[in-house]
Amino acid sequence: MDEEKAEMIARGETPFFEPGLNDLLKLSIEKRFFKVSKDPLETVLNTDVTFITVGTPGREDGSIDLTYVKEASHDIGRALRLKESWHLVVVKSTVTPTTTRSIVKPTIEEASGKPHGSSFGICVNPEFLREGSAVEDTFKPDRVVIGELDSKSGDELEAIYREFYGVNMPPILRTTPSNAELIKYASNAFLAMKVSFINTIANLCERIPEADVSKVAEGMGMDRRVGSLFLKAGLGFGGSCLPKDLKALGAFSKSLGVEPPLVEATLKVNEAQPLKAVEMAEELAGSLGGKQVAILGTSFKPDTDDVREAPSLKIIKLLLEKGADVAAYDPASLNNVRKIFGNRITYAPSAKACLKDADVAIVVTEWEEFKELKPEDFKELMKRPLVVDGRRVFKVQEFKDKNVAIKAMGFGPLTSLPPKP
Ligand code: UGA
Repeated sequence: MDEEKAEMIARGETPFFEPGLNDLLKLSIEKRFFKVSKDPLETVLNTDVTFITVGTPGREDGSIDLTYVKEASHDIGRALRLKESWHLVVVKSTVTPTTTRSIVKPTIEEASGKPHGSSFGICVNPEFLREGSAVEDTFKPDRVVIGELDSKSGDELEAIYREFYGVNMPPILRTTPSNAELIKYASNAFLAMKVSFINTIANLCERIPEADVSKVAEGMGMDRRVGSLFLKAGLGFGGSCLPKDLKALGAFSKSLGVEPPLVEATLKVNEAQPLKAVEMAEELAGSLGGKQVAILGTSFKPDTDDVREAPSLKIIKLLLEKGADVAAYDPASLNNVRKIFGNRITYAPSAKACLKDADVAIVVTEWEEFKELKPEDFKELMKRPLVVDGRRVFKVQEFKDKNVAIKAMGFGPLTSLPPKP
């Protein structure tokens, strides 16, 4: 639908930053594996399978907007009216339980004039890839989940994946459409809950001498029932998926008369978590009015240029409200930040340029390159070496030994500040 993006993709350029994707796209276009079309009818008529991958944006009340899913279903139905041979429709978009059966199916049936099962079948096939490692996750997923409205379609989709993955076929779960739809939401909500849980423990650690959340998480993760992944404390989860999906699950649950207290608590912890960065900066530097604050990392996680729901946005907004001068650096996402803050903040060309003359530095996103920064860099470049490590990228003791005042997420109380210049 977006002409500009369609043309970029057709030229072999990805319209966003995702490691490895551009090379893969170029190769697919060169080898003619892949073609871009702006005509949905032509696309459906010339293929055997259609994946619906459109967005399902969140609405004010948390529920999802199904406009694009309905439009796509309608377009597919119009094409199927003209098609004689069998067609498989796969819903990959994240939709709340029963959407596929109660909205996608009747919309296609009405537009095509044909009943489901006669000349087309439908499956729900949720997507579990992460931004920043989308290519790797696509080739090596933990599982494939297929929710089938009819077993012929389930067999067909399973065969497609078996051909695609060959000997590396991941475990497969075939189930009802409602289960498949709910597996997606329950997975994202559970991951988000783990993050909010460890952030709660991190906040507690900060009040306990000699406590360190990273060690606590390591010890917890050694229990196979807990698992070590998604236990990294930080400034909260962002992105286009976890916050939106949690809100949608909460709203959906309430619509059925079921209270979702864990979902609500997960979101509540996450609302407050980014603001901890500002509190920590104030503990180190006092009032931030008129002070120069360096923000290292603005994308919602490393290896992406996506700033949707990024903790950095909340942090920068609060810093500006407090009258601070903000300089930001990020290896990929500054163009997107500029669209939001314009000339209200400055944009640095490198991490070191960002630190120059700053009163306090805050690491908001754990990009690999920030791990290269040494205590000496902060001492040489900043007015005073005051560092908030919101993502635990530095060795706290090493920084303290070198007289850099550091407040690190989930690390016990700070003892002393370096002398004023
Ligand atoms: C998430 C899920 O992980 C994917 O499985 C799912 O397919 C995707 O949503 C989706 O629904 O499309 P994504 O949003 O790309 O993927 O990123 P995550 O790796 O889940 O990270 C989300 C946020 O949680 C980031 O802000 C990250 O910094 C934060 N996080 C993650 C932590 O703070 N601590 C952790 O231990 C892990």
